[in-house]
Amino acid sequence: MTRIENYDLSAHNTFRMKVKCALYIEYSSVAELQALSIADLPQPVMHIGAGSNLLFTKDFPGTVLHSKVDFVKFVDMGLDEVLMTVGAGVVFDDFVARTCKEGLWGAENLSLIPGEVGAAAVQNIGAYGVEVKDIIAGVVCLDTRDWTKTVFKMQECGYGYRDSMFKHQKGRYIVTSVLFRLTRKYSPKLDYGGVRKALEAAGTASSAASDTVWQSLTPQAVRDAIIGIRRQKLPDPADVGSAGSFFKNPVVPREVFDSIAAKEGDVPHYVLEDGSVKIPAAWLIDRCGFKGASEGGAQVYEKQPLVIVNASGEAAAADVLKLENRIIATVQGRFGITLNPEVEHV
Ligand code: EPU
Repeated sequence: MTRIENYDLSAHNTFRMKVKCALYIEYSSVAELQALSIADLPQPVMHIGAGSNLLFTKDFPGTVLHSKVDFVKFVDMGLDEVLMTVGAGVVFDDFVARTCKEGLWGAENLSLIPGEVGAAAVQNIGAYGVEVKDIIAGVVCLDTRDWTKTVFKMQECGYGYRDSMFKHQKGRYIVTSVLFRLTRKYSPKLDYGGVRKALEAAGTASSAASDTVWQSLTPQAVRDAIIGIRRQKLPDPADVGSAGSFFKNPVVPREVFDSIAAKEGDVPHYVLEDGSVKIPAAWLIDRCGFKGASEGGAQVYEKQPLVIVNASGEAAAADVLKLENRIIATVQGRFGITLNPEVEHV
Protein backbone atom coordinates (compact mmCIF):
# COMPACT_ATOMS: atom_id res chain seq x y z
CA MET A 1 0.00 0.00 0.00
CA THR A 2 1.22 3.49 -0.87
CA ARG A 3 0.49 6.19 1.68
CA ILE A 4 1.74 9.74 1.05
CA GLU A 5 0.89 12.93 2.93
CA ASN A 6 0.53 16.34 1.29
CA TYR A 7 0.51 14.66 -2.12
CA ASP A 8 0.56 16.41 -5.51
CA LEU A 9 -2.38 15.15 -7.63
CA SER A 10 -1.17 16.50 -11.01
CA ALA A 11 -0.48 12.99 -12.30
CA HIS A 12 -3.90 11.79 -11.11
CA ASN A 13 -6.13 14.16 -13.05
CA THR A 14 -6.05 14.33 -16.82
CA PHE A 15 -6.86 18.08 -16.71
CA ARG A 16 -3.45 18.35 -14.99
CA MET A 17 -4.59 20.72 -12.27
CA LYS A 18 -1.79 21.30 -9.78
CA VAL A 19 -3.55 20.55 -6.52
CA LYS A 20 -2.64 18.61 -3.40
CA CYS A 21 -4.51 16.35 -1.03
CA ALA A 22 -3.78 15.90 2.68
CA LEU A 23 -3.31 12.13 2.26
CA TYR A 24 -3.11 9.82 -0.77
CA ILE A 25 -3.58 6.07 -0.36
CA GLU A 26 -3.19 3.54 -3.14
CA TYR A 27 -4.14 -0.04 -2.25
CA SER A 28 -3.48 -3.18 -4.25
CA SER A 29 -5.97 -5.60 -2.73
CA VAL A 30 -9.47 -5.49 -1.31
CA ALA A 31 -8.04 -6.79 1.98
CA GLU A 32 -5.76 -3.72 2.18
CA LEU A 33 -8.75 -1.47 1.62
CA GLN A 34 -10.79 -3.28 4.28
CA ALA A 35 -7.97 -2.87 6.78
CA LEU A 36 -8.28 0.94 6.60
CA SER A 37 -10.20 2.73 9.32
CA ILE A 38 -12.00 5.36 7.27
CA ALA A 39 -13.07 7.44 10.29
CA ASP A 40 -9.42 7.89 11.28
CA LEU A 41 -8.33 9.31 7.92
CA PRO A 42 -8.24 13.04 7.11
CA GLN A 43 -11.78 13.97 6.01
CA PRO A 44 -13.49 14.05 3.63
CA VAL A 45 -12.50 10.83 1.89
CA MET A 46 -12.90 10.52 -1.86
CA HIS A 47 -12.11 7.69 -4.23
CA ILE A 48 -10.67 8.42 -7.67
CA GLY A 49 -10.05 6.39 -10.80
CA ALA A 50 -7.72 7.79 -13.44
CA GLY A 51 -9.05 11.30 -12.73
CA SER A 52 -10.21 11.59 -16.33
CA ASN A 53 -13.57 13.11 -15.48
CA LEU A 54 -12.56 15.41 -12.64
CA LEU A 55 -11.85 19.10 -12.31
CA PHE A 56 -10.04 19.83 -9.05
CA THR A 57 -10.85 23.45 -8.29
CA LYS A 58 -8.67 23.69 -5.17
CA ASP A 59 -6.49 21.62 -2.84
CA PHE A 60 -8.40 18.69 -1.38
CA PRO A 61 -8.36 18.83 2.44
CA GLY A 62 -8.98 15.10 2.99
CA THR A 63 -7.91 11.65 1.79
CA VAL A 64 -7.83 10.46 -1.81
CA LEU A 65 -8.10 6.69 -2.28
CA HIS A 66 -7.04 4.93 -5.47
CA SER A 67 -7.34 1.26 -6.43
CA LYS A 68 -4.52 -0.75 -7.94
CA VAL A 69 -6.63 -3.91 -7.93
CA ASP A 70 -5.85 -4.97 -11.45
CA PHE A 71 -6.85 -8.55 -12.22
CA VAL A 72 -8.71 -9.69 -15.34
CA LYS A 73 -10.24 -13.19 -15.05
CA PHE A 74 -12.51 -15.31 -17.17
CA VAL A 75 -15.36 -16.63 -15.02
CA ASP A 76 -17.46 -18.50 -17.53
CA MET A 77 -16.49 -19.40 -21.08
CA GLY A 78 -19.91 -20.26 -22.47
CA LEU A 79 -20.53 -21.16 -26.09
CA ASP A 80 -21.78 -17.66 -26.85
CA GLU A 81 -21.65 -15.74 -23.64
CA VAL A 82 -18.41 -15.10 -21.78
CA LEU A 83 -18.27 -13.65 -18.28
CA MET A 84 -15.20 -11.76 -17.12
CA THR A 85 -14.46 -10.27 -13.72
CA VAL A 86 -12.17 -7.25 -13.77
CA GLY A 87 -10.55 -5.33 -10.91
CA ALA A 88 -11.66 -1.71 -10.43
CA GLY A 89 -8.12 -0.44 -10.95
CA VAL A 90 -7.67 -1.92 -14.43
CA VAL A 91 -7.29 0.69 -17.18
CA PHE A 92 -10.61 0.44 -19.00
CA ASP A 93 -9.04 0.45 -22.45
CA ASP A 94 -6.67 -2.40 -21.50
CA PHE A 95 -9.78 -4.45 -20.71
CA VAL A 96 -11.37 -3.45 -24.05
CA ALA A 97 -8.16 -4.36 -25.91
CA ARG A 98 -8.16 -7.79 -24.24
CA THR A 99 -11.81 -8.51 -25.17
CA CYS A 100 -11.10 -7.58 -28.80
CA LYS A 101 -7.98 -9.73 -28.86
CA GLU A 102 -10.11 -12.64 -27.65
CA GLY A 103 -12.63 -11.95 -30.44
CA LEU A 104 -15.39 -11.04 -27.99
CA TRP A 105 -18.10 -8.52 -28.90
CA GLY A 106 -19.57 -5.87 -26.65
CA ALA A 107 -16.82 -3.52 -25.50
CA GLU A 108 -15.24 -2.51 -28.83
CA ASN A 109 -17.25 0.73 -29.27
CA LEU A 110 -15.90 1.90 -25.90
CA SER A 111 -12.30 1.78 -27.16
CA LEU A 112 -9.87 4.48 -26.05
CA ILE A 113 -12.16 6.04 -23.43
CA PRO A 114 -9.78 7.19 -20.71
CA GLY A 115 -10.31 5.97 -17.17
CA GLU A 116 -10.42 2.84 -15.04
CA VAL A 117 -12.95 0.04 -14.71
CA GLY A 118 -14.37 1.06 -11.30
CA ALA A 119 -15.06 4.64 -12.38
CA ALA A 120 -16.48 3.42 -15.70
CA ALA A 121 -19.15 1.49 -13.77
CA VAL A 122 -19.95 4.49 -11.57
CA GLN A 123 -20.09 6.94 -14.47
CA ASN A 124 -21.79 4.65 -17.01
CA ILE A 125 -19.32 5.76 -19.67
CA GLY A 126 -20.56 5.60 -23.22
CA ALA A 127 -19.60 6.17 -26.82
CA TYR A 128 -20.78 5.33 -30.33
CA GLY A 129 -24.17 3.97 -29.35
CA VAL A 130 -22.96 1.76 -26.47
CA GLU A 131 -22.96 2.42 -22.73
CA VAL A 132 -20.91 0.33 -20.35
CA LYS A 133 -24.13 -0.81 -18.61
CA ASP A 134 -24.88 -2.77 -21.81
CA ILE A 135 -22.03 -5.17 -20.99
CA ILE A 136 -22.17 -5.06 -17.19
CA ALA A 137 -23.72 -8.08 -15.46
CA GLY A 138 -22.91 -6.96 -11.92
CA VAL A 139 -20.87 -4.58 -9.81
CA VAL A 140 -19.00 -5.76 -6.71
CA CYS A 141 -18.60 -3.10 -4.00
CA LEU A 142 -17.54 -2.59 -0.44
CA ASP A 143 -20.12 -0.74 1.62
CA THR A 144 -18.07 1.83 3.55
CA ARG A 145 -20.62 1.80 6.42
CA ASP A 146 -19.59 -1.65 7.58
CA TRP A 147 -17.01 -2.85 5.02
CA THR A 148 -19.30 -5.65 3.84
CA LYS A 149 -19.06 -6.92 0.30
CA THR A 150 -22.19 -6.01 -1.67
CA VAL A 151 -22.95 -7.22 -5.17
CA PHE A 152 -25.40 -5.28 -7.33
CA LYS A 153 -26.92 -6.73 -10.46
CA MET A 154 -26.80 -4.31 -13.40
CA GLN A 155 -30.56 -3.66 -13.00
CA GLU A 156 -29.99 -2.54 -9.41
CA CYS A 157 -27.40 0.10 -10.32
CA GLY A 158 -29.92 2.77 -11.44
CA TYR A 159 -28.11 3.39 -14.71
CA GLY A 160 -29.01 6.37 -16.90
CA TYR A 161 -27.10 8.64 -19.29
CA ARG A 162 -23.72 9.13 -17.52
CA ASP A 163 -25.54 8.33 -14.30
CA SER A 164 -25.92 5.60 -11.66
CA MET A 165 -27.11 5.20 -8.08
CA PHE A 166 -23.44 5.18 -7.04
CA LYS A 167 -23.26 8.87 -8.00
CA HIS A 168 -26.27 9.65 -5.83
CA GLN A 169 -24.96 7.86 -2.75
CA LYS A 170 -21.59 9.54 -2.94
CA GLY A 171 -18.88 7.82 -1.00
CA ARG A 172 -21.02 4.99 0.31
CA TYR A 173 -19.92 2.25 -2.09
CA ILE A 174 -16.42 1.60 -3.36
CA VAL A 175 -16.42 -0.51 -6.52
CA THR A 176 -13.84 -3.28 -6.16
CA SER A 177 -14.54 -5.25 -9.34
CA VAL A 178 -17.01 -5.46 -12.22
CA LEU A 179 -18.55 -8.54 -13.83
CA PHE A 180 -18.82 -8.11 -17.59
CA ARG A 181 -20.87 -10.13 -20.05
CA LEU A 182 -19.36 -10.33 -23.56
CA THR A 183 -20.39 -12.50 -26.46
CA ARG A 184 -18.75 -14.48 -29.24
CA LYS A 185 -21.88 -13.98 -31.30
CA TYR A 186 -21.42 -11.55 -34.21
CA SER A 187 -23.02 -8.36 -32.94
CA PRO A 188 -21.33 -5.16 -34.14
CA LYS A 189 -23.05 -1.83 -33.48
CA LEU A 190 -22.16 0.41 -36.38
CA ASP A 191 -25.05 2.82 -36.66
CA TYR A 192 -23.77 5.67 -34.55
CA GLY A 193 -22.30 8.63 -36.44
CA GLY A 194 -19.40 7.67 -38.63
CA VAL A 195 -18.52 4.16 -37.47
CA ARG A 196 -19.80 2.36 -40.57
CA LYS A 197 -18.27 5.03 -42.81
CA ALA A 198 -14.91 4.72 -41.08
CA LEU A 199 -14.93 0.95 -41.68
CA GLU A 200 -15.81 1.50 -45.33
CA ALA A 201 -13.05 4.09 -45.68
CA ALA A 202 -10.54 1.71 -44.11
CA GLY A 203 -11.51 -0.83 -46.74
CA THR A 204 -12.63 -3.24 -44.04
CA ALA A 205 -15.96 -3.53 -45.81
CA SER A 206 -17.68 -1.77 -48.67
CA SER A 207 -21.10 -0.16 -48.54
CA ALA A 208 -22.25 -2.46 -51.33
CA ALA A 209 -20.96 -5.50 -49.47
CA SER A 210 -23.35 -8.27 -48.76
CA ASP A 211 -24.15 -9.16 -45.20
CA THR A 212 -21.74 -12.07 -45.41
CA VAL A 213 -18.83 -9.72 -46.12
CA TRP A 214 -19.84 -7.54 -43.19
CA GLN A 215 -19.90 -10.75 -41.19
CA SER A 216 -16.16 -11.09 -41.62
CA LEU A 217 -15.82 -8.02 -39.39
CA THR A 218 -14.02 -8.58 -36.12
CA PRO A 219 -14.28 -6.71 -32.81
CA GLN A 220 -10.66 -5.68 -33.43
CA ALA A 221 -11.55 -4.05 -36.79
CA VAL A 222 -14.34 -2.07 -35.12
CA ARG A 223 -11.97 -1.10 -32.30
CA ASP A 224 -9.42 0.15 -34.84
CA ALA A 225 -12.08 2.23 -36.61
CA ILE A 226 -13.29 3.77 -33.34
CA ILE A 227 -9.72 4.56 -32.30
CA GLY A 228 -9.27 6.32 -35.65
CA ILE A 229 -12.41 8.43 -35.14
CA ARG A 230 -11.52 9.37 -31.57
CA ARG A 231 -7.95 10.33 -32.50
CA GLN A 232 -9.28 12.72 -35.15
CA LYS A 233 -11.76 14.44 -32.85
CA LEU A 234 -10.57 14.24 -29.28
CA PRO A 235 -7.37 15.46 -27.66
CA ASP A 236 -4.92 12.78 -26.56
CA PRO A 237 -4.60 13.12 -22.77
CA ALA A 238 -0.87 12.38 -23.23
CA ASP A 239 -0.47 15.60 -25.28
CA VAL A 240 -2.88 18.06 -23.74
CA GLY A 241 -4.83 18.10 -20.50
CA SER A 242 -8.62 17.75 -20.61
CA ALA A 243 -11.39 15.71 -19.05
CA GLY A 244 -13.12 14.62 -22.26
CA SER A 245 -16.62 15.97 -22.83
CA PHE A 246 -17.02 18.87 -20.43
CA PHE A 247 -20.83 19.11 -20.73
CA LYS A 248 -23.64 16.58 -21.02
CA ASN A 249 -25.76 16.66 -24.14
CA PRO A 250 -28.98 18.39 -23.06
CA VAL A 251 -32.38 16.73 -23.42
CA VAL A 252 -35.26 19.14 -24.07
CA PRO A 253 -39.02 18.83 -24.60
CA ARG A 254 -40.12 18.59 -28.24
CA GLU A 255 -41.65 22.11 -28.17
CA VAL A 256 -38.34 23.64 -27.09
CA PHE A 257 -36.53 21.84 -29.90
CA ASP A 258 -39.16 22.92 -32.44
CA SER A 259 -38.84 26.56 -31.49
CA ILE A 260 -35.03 26.40 -31.73
CA ALA A 261 -35.23 24.62 -35.10
CA ALA A 262 -37.68 27.27 -36.38
CA LYS A 263 -35.06 29.96 -35.70
CA GLU A 264 -31.83 28.10 -36.45
CA GLY A 265 -32.74 25.86 -39.36
CA ASP A 266 -31.06 22.46 -39.41
CA VAL A 267 -30.32 21.43 -35.82
CA PRO A 268 -28.69 18.01 -35.29
CA HIS A 269 -30.70 15.99 -32.80
CA TYR A 270 -31.79 12.55 -31.62
CA VAL A 271 -35.41 11.89 -30.66
CA LEU A 272 -35.57 9.76 -27.51
CA GLU A 273 -38.15 7.08 -26.73
CA ASP A 274 -40.31 9.40 -24.62
CA GLY A 275 -40.46 11.98 -27.44
CA SER A 276 -37.99 14.39 -25.84
CA VAL A 277 -35.03 15.51 -27.93
CA LYS A 278 -31.28 15.30 -27.27
CA ILE A 279 -29.28 18.11 -28.87
CA PRO A 280 -25.47 17.84 -29.12
CA ALA A 281 -23.95 20.35 -26.72
CA ALA A 282 -21.03 20.54 -29.18
CA TRP A 283 -23.37 22.02 -31.78
CA LEU A 284 -24.85 24.59 -29.36
CA ILE A 285 -21.37 25.68 -28.25
CA ASP A 286 -20.02 25.73 -31.81
CA ARG A 287 -23.01 27.83 -32.95
CA CYS A 288 -22.19 30.39 -30.27
CA GLY A 289 -18.72 30.75 -31.82
CA PHE A 290 -16.71 29.26 -29.00
CA LYS A 291 -14.27 27.08 -30.96
CA GLY A 292 -10.79 28.09 -29.86
CA ALA A 293 -12.14 30.62 -27.29
CA SER A 294 -9.96 30.90 -24.21
CA GLU A 295 -9.68 32.18 -20.66
CA GLY A 296 -6.11 32.24 -19.37
CA GLY A 297 -4.62 28.84 -20.17
CA ALA A 298 -7.98 27.10 -20.73
CA GLN A 299 -9.35 26.76 -24.25
CA VAL A 300 -12.35 25.33 -26.10
CA TYR A 301 -10.92 22.55 -28.26
CA GLU A 302 -11.03 23.45 -31.96
CA LYS A 303 -11.97 20.00 -33.26
CA GLN A 304 -14.63 19.21 -30.64
CA PRO A 305 -16.03 22.21 -28.78
CA LEU A 306 -17.57 19.96 -26.13
CA VAL A 307 -14.06 19.59 -24.73
CA ILE A 308 -12.21 22.22 -22.70
CA VAL A 309 -8.43 21.76 -22.76
CA ASN A 310 -5.59 22.92 -20.54
CA ALA A 311 -3.93 24.42 -23.62
CA SER A 312 -1.02 26.09 -21.87
CA GLY A 313 -0.43 23.20 -19.49
CA GLU A 314 -0.57 25.86 -16.78
CA ALA A 315 -4.30 26.62 -16.76
CA ALA A 316 -5.74 27.35 -13.34
CA ALA A 317 -9.08 25.87 -12.34
CA ALA A 318 -10.36 29.47 -12.22
CA ASP A 319 -9.63 29.80 -15.98
CA VAL A 320 -11.63 26.64 -16.71
CA LEU A 321 -14.50 27.82 -14.51
CA LYS A 322 -14.58 31.24 -16.22
CA LEU A 323 -14.74 29.59 -19.63
CA GLU A 324 -17.39 27.14 -18.40
CA ASN A 325 -19.55 29.98 -17.06
CA ARG A 326 -19.18 32.02 -20.25
CA ILE A 327 -20.30 29.04 -22.32
CA ILE A 328 -23.27 28.28 -20.04
CA ALA A 329 -24.42 31.92 -20.02
CA THR A 330 -24.04 32.36 -23.79
CA VAL A 331 -25.82 29.11 -24.68
CA GLN A 332 -28.55 29.97 -22.16
CA GLY A 333 -28.95 33.44 -23.65
CA ARG A 334 -29.17 32.25 -27.23
CA PHE A 335 -31.08 28.98 -26.91
CA GLY A 336 -32.70 29.08 -23.45
CA ILE A 337 -30.95 25.78 -22.63
CA THR A 338 -28.87 25.37 -19.47
CA LEU A 339 -25.87 23.13 -20.09
CA ASN A 340 -24.83 20.88 -17.22
CA PRO A 341 -21.21 19.88 -16.78
CA GLU A 342 -20.42 16.21 -17.24
CA VAL A 343 -17.07 16.69 -15.51
CA GLU A 344 -17.26 16.39 -11.74
CA HIS A 345 -16.04 19.50 -9.90
CA VAL A 346 -14.13 18.82 -6.69
N1 EPU B 1 -20.65 19.10 -33.57
C1 EPU B 1 -20.60 20.39 -33.99
N2 EPU B 1 -19.38 20.98 -34.10
C2 EPU B 1 -18.21 20.31 -33.85
C3 EPU B 1 -18.27 18.98 -33.41
C4 EPU B 1 -19.52 18.38 -33.27
O1 EPU B 1 -21.61 21.02 -34.26
O2 EPU B 1 -17.16 20.90 -33.99
C5 EPU B 1 -21.96 18.43 -33.44
C6 EPU B 1 -22.26 17.61 -34.67
O3 EPU B 1 -23.61 17.81 -35.02
C7 EPU B 1 -22.05 16.20 -34.19
C8 EPU B 1 -22.54 16.33 -32.77
O4 EPU B 1 -22.00 17.58 -32.35
O5 EPU B 1 -22.83 15.30 -34.92
C9 EPU B 1 -22.17 15.21 -31.84
O6 EPU B 1 -20.80 14.96 -31.87
P1 EPU B 1 -20.25 13.49 -31.51
O7 EPU B 1 -21.22 12.47 -31.86
O8 EPU B 1 -18.87 13.41 -32.01
O9 EPU B 1 -20.10 13.44 -29.97
P2 EPU B 1 -20.87 14.11 -28.78
O10 EPU B 1 -22.32 13.93 -28.74
O11 EPU B 1 -20.38 15.52 -28.80
C10 EPU B 1 -20.75 12.06 -27.13
C11 EPU B 1 -20.10 11.74 -25.82
C12 EPU B 1 -18.62 11.40 -26.00
C13 EPU B 1 -18.52 10.22 -26.96
C14 EPU B 1 -19.19 10.62 -28.29
C15 EPU B 1 -19.22 9.50 -29.27
C16 EPU B 1 -21.31 13.03 -24.15
C17 EPU B 1 -21.28 14.18 -23.21
N3 EPU B 1 -20.24 12.87 -24.92
O12 EPU B 1 -20.17 13.28 -27.58
O13 EPU B 1 -18.12 11.03 -24.74
O14 EPU B 1 -17.18 9.87 -27.17
O15 EPU B 1 -20.56 11.01 -28.04
O16 EPU B 1 -20.19 8.58 -28.88
O17 EPU B 1 -22.29 12.29 -24.17
C18 EPU B 1 -17.00 11.78 -22.79
O18 EPU B 1 -17.99 11.44 -22.16
O19 EPU B 1 -16.00 12.33 -22.23
C19 EPU B 1 -16.98 11.63 -24.23
C20 EPU B 1 -15.95 12.03 -24.98
